[in-house]
Amino acid sequence: MERVCVIGAGYVGLVTAACLSELGHLVTCIEVDEGRLLALQAGRLPIHEPGLAELVCGNTQRGRLLFSGNFAGIADADVVFVAVPTPSGEDGDADVSFVRRAVESLIQYATPGLVLVVKSTVPVGTADEIAQLAPVLKAGIEVVSNPEFLRQGTAVYDFLHPDRVVIGAASAEAMERVARIYDSLDAPIVGVDRRSAELAKYAANALLATRISFMNEISHIASTVEANIDDVALIVGMDRRIGSAFLRAGLGWGGSCFPKDVLALTSAAEGYGCHTPILRAVYEVNQLQRERAAELLIEALHGVADPTVAILGVAFKPNTDDVRGSPGLTIAERLIKRGVTVRAHDPYALSNAALLVPDIDCQSDPYSALEGADALLLATEWEEYEALDWTLVRETMRGRTVVDGRNVLNRAHLTELGFHYRSFGRPEYNGNGNGTHHRIRRPAHNNGEVGVE
Ligand code: UGA
Repeated sequence: MERVCVIGAGYVGLVTAACLSELGHLVTCIEVDEGRLLALQAGRLPIHEPGLAELVCGNTQRGRLLFSGNFAGIADADVVFVAVPTPSGEDGDADVSFVRRAVESLIQYATPGLVLVVKSTVPVGTADEIAQLAPVLKAGIEVVSNPEFLRQGTAVYDFLHPDRVVIGAASAEAMERVARIYDSLDAPIVGVDRRSAELAKYAANALLATRISFMNEISHIASTVEANIDDVALIVGMDRRIGSAFLRAGLGWGGSCFPKDVLALTSAAEGYGCHTPILRAVYEVNQLQRERAAELLIEALHGVADPTVAILGVAFKPNTDDVRGSPGLTIAERLIKRGVTVRAHDPYALSNAALLVPDIDCQSDPYSALEGADALLLATEWEEYEALDWTLVRETMRGRTVVDGRNVLNRAHLTELGFHYRSFGRPEYNGNGNGTHHRIRRPAHNNGEVGVE
């Protein structure tokens, strides 16, 4: 059992604090925002993350997790994790001012031998720079990089079942001390230098974003040559060297991480004089998807007086209420600028959406968002949208255009009902567009028979 402090009770900090206490460590989570701190102390969570409330509640009751606004707790800690935001600065650079402030605040309470773990996503070299600060050297603090790979919506699961734990350290002792914290996890621990750990975090996010942008580019080729992107993705993903994750074409990637990290890596690299044409293209292709979707809608509205578009889904992905980098919202803004009325529905993200784009007409029921609409954009693939009563939708909508921004709707069914179905890479005649027409024959185990899916 280690005595741990986690600075920051945001999405990464809170999940880290809760999961480390679940692993049996004694954790103090320090939060400087008074409102957030009071809520946490009263047992209210500022974010929705499956499984998190149970961990926070259980470990608070067991006395292994507490929330504080006071950095003095650092004096009793063996290890302190810095998990504060690093938002995009003006030129795309990661703004590390919150990290610096956290280090300044903790330093006066640090005891010699304290290990300072940087969990926030920071530009390469940040941990090295912190390690060289005079007060850090004077206090005898070890600085370690330990990037996170948590997805929103599955962050608790990801923390407790990681593919790998990355520890970037300047000494084997510091590496071992952080590795001990993760001892009870069934995961490989990769010990490297601090810079490699920091770059690996950016590279992982950038590569995932690259796969999606790449498939989005292929989806345009598919539409043009009348091939089906679902089938292409299936076949490509069956290659074990490639794998099937993050090959879904559609409106592209959003959220608080991919856009920020791709930009930050590009900006930092170019600052060092490295040419980054791939990273630039990955970002540009992602922006283009949104423009293309907006253009498809505008085309469909041609000649319509006082047009209305209904957008289903404004969260940047399903199972979250986060609207940062939301494709649906970017497209809504574009449409509103062109004089279109935009109605939106989302099961969880409407209040966040209304704060960012107040001109959207938010509807708490998908059918009321669709009533009288001239076109529909499905921007987030919440399961409930696939199960809508499409016959009823057809009757209530004024127009017939459906832009399926996530390639999840059953095109054959929608076309039969009289909708004009538009998608990213599922052309008119090819395939039924519901992803169930694939024929895969697999060899049966012992008797040489083949199975068909
Ligand atoms: C991402 C990474 O997946 C995490 O490993 C990382 O720790 C995290 O960023 C971070 O840096 O903190 P997250 O932003 O929660 O996690 O979202 P993802 O599930 O990765 O999805 C990102 C975007 O890609 C979403 O907008 C999603 O709709 C889109 N996407 C995903 C596609 O368009 N196609 C796909 O095939 C997969």
